[in-house]
Amino acid sequence: FYLDNTIEKVEGMRPYSPLELVGRNIYMREGCYLCHSQMIRPFRDEVERYGHYSLAAESMYDHPFQWGSKRTGPDLARVGDRYSNAWHVAHLTDPRSVVPESIMPSYGFLKDTPIDVKDFSTHLVANRLVAVPYTDDMIVHANADLAAQADPNADTSGLEARYPKAKIGDFDGNPQQVTEMDALLAYLQMLGTLVDFKNYDEAAGYR
Ligand code: HEC
Repeated sequence: FYLDNTIEKVEGMRPYSPLELVGRNIYMREGCYLCHSQMIRPFRDEVERYGHYSLAAESMYDHPFQWGSKRTGPDLARVGDRYSNAWHVAHLTDPRSVVPESIMPSYGFLKDTPIDVKDFSTHLVANRLVAVPYTDDMIVHANADLAAQADPNADTSGLEARYPKAKIGDFDGNPQQVTEMDALLAYLQMLGTLVDFKNYDEAAGYR
């Protein structure tokens, strides 16, 4: 990861949007990585279950990376777009309501917890120090972009230009406030959706 030639440049990868980054922090705080990996290995059974194996470039903006080392639950590297927001809210609130045999803990408090952010631009600045290419424009708009991504009525054209393919809207079903559930879902629903694998699969002779 310190050598330029080990990371192939891959179209579609971009730094996390501010709301995704908050969601990622919650993912780490709650220890989701203790039960979930985000690293699809290049083995046939994994690729058939989870999708294209993970590329180095897909973790290049992760500080720290979330590959994990244990799969009590499924790999989440490509969970984005696989379920609706409503499914995730139901599942995170009461996993057994949608997967009766689940042993996953409940995280219902996330939808009652407004995100606690005073000035999120400093977090982008910190990531820039470790070489994540946040631009001055992204840093100036960090707080506005954070609020806009979870607001279905906001003007999100700037956000969408800065963070292509960011999922926008009221994720948790409560438009009154931006909660930790909104942030976690913005992150989960983006996972694995940035790279268009059609180009890579055809070039590599897959599919
Ligand atoms: C104690 C282990 C454990 C922890 C901690 C845990 N999970 Fe899970 N998770 C599971 C198991 C087991 C499943 C499979 C059964 C199910 O779907 O509930 C699962 C399933 C999932 C799924 C569905 C994946 C799919 O492809 O079907 C998602 C999404 C998910 N977890 C997200 C999270 C998030 C986000 C966190 C942290 C807030 C978390 N999990 C914490 C064990 C865990």
